[in-house]
Amino acid sequence: MTLPMVVPAPDLPARVRIHEVGARDGLQNEKTTVPTEVKAQFIRRLAAAGLTTIEATSFVHPKWVPQLADAEELFPLVSDLSKQSDPRVALPVLVPNERGLDRALSLGARQVAVFASATESFAKANLNRTVDEALAMFEPVVRRAKDQGAHVRGYLSMCFGDPWEGAVPVHQVARVCTALRDMGCDELSLGDTIGVATPGHVLELLSSLNEQGVPTNVLGVHFHDTYGQALANTLAALQHGVTTVDASAGGLGGCPFAKSATGNLATEDLVWMLQGLGIETGVDLGSLVATSTWMADQLGRPSPSRTVRALSHKDSEQSAESTESQEQ
Ligand code: HMG
Ligand code: MG
Repeated sequence: MTLPMVVPAPDLPARVRIHEVGARDGLQNEKTTVPTEVKAQFIRRLAAAGLTTIEATSFVHPKWVPQLADAEELFPLVSDLSKQSDPRVALPVLVPNERGLDRALSLGARQVAVFASATESFAKANLNRTVDEALAMFEPVVRRAKDQGAHVRGYLSMCFGDPWEGAVPVHQVARVCTALRDMGCDELSLGDTIGVATPGHVLELLSSLNEQGVPTNVLGVHFHDTYGQALANTLAALQHGVTTVDASAGGLGGCPFAKSATGNLATEDLVWMLQGLGIETGVDLGSLVATSTWMADQLGRPSPSRTVRALSHKDSEQSAESTESQEQ
């Protein structure tokens, strides 16, 4: 079997938009820096597989994230994919401050993302700022990006647990969500940076945010798979009505500023589940698996995605079978 049987479940959305983060969240965490040409090919192959939102890179300080220091070289190699006249693909980029925004806008980026934290410890580790100082740093970024007609995503990290502070109270998350919304962010992505969430916690957070006036239709979910909960958490979010799900091709990823973070939910594992549920994504699973298998070869180690492993194993079984039958 190379595709699941389709058996829809009640009360789930008909369509989900996958926000692909492999080229950014995935590659920012690689020990070796991937050549710019390989990154560009990765992004092109993801687009060819049907992904329509592909986070391309980050315009952060190159010393903080050396793996993405080639943002200026990379973005022009792929920006034709998101041409205003033919916007096949959105290519959001991370910008922490006005300097990052200037770099992104000068290259024609039209979707940017700021990245806040629900906890003080991670705000310090990731941005060298307190939570409020980081919000103050984002305010002109969001305002200027909106003035330029850009779409702005607001990430919110450590929404469920934090490696230094432990469990994160819902009110802390709600406060930062509301601040990002008030600034003008078009959408918010709720990050389980270290992968400790469980489905009940996801439902509780989403309901609480709704009660605080944050509607579900501006919320996306961003699960890391440290404890194997990412798909279960995603299903809970879909049941609540969320239709934007972040995932990383091949399950690449982690966070260099939170050592206990492992890879994101693998896009292939997500697509397998969504196809089985009859939920449209526009993604061709075979092409996506081929892309992640190719990327795993570039990185010199197998993909952690269960679906990539299962389906690329099938490919090699099939080619072994066809070689055997040709030899007979
Ligand atoms: P800082 O050291 O406090 O910087 O870092 P600063 O504001 O004091 O500036 C110092 C120097 O850096 C200045 O240069 C600036 O011009 C320069 P100097 O005057 O000394 O020559 N600078 C820049 N250069 C290039 N591009 C820039 C930039 N900004 C300042 N954008 C800073 C503060 C925010 C810059 C730094 O902390 C940083 O770059 N952090 C990025 C961290 C990061 O990328 N983390 C990973 C992404 S978040 C994530 O993965 C979580 C997520 O996936 C969701 C989840 O899972 O939870 C999104
Ligand atoms: Mg992340």
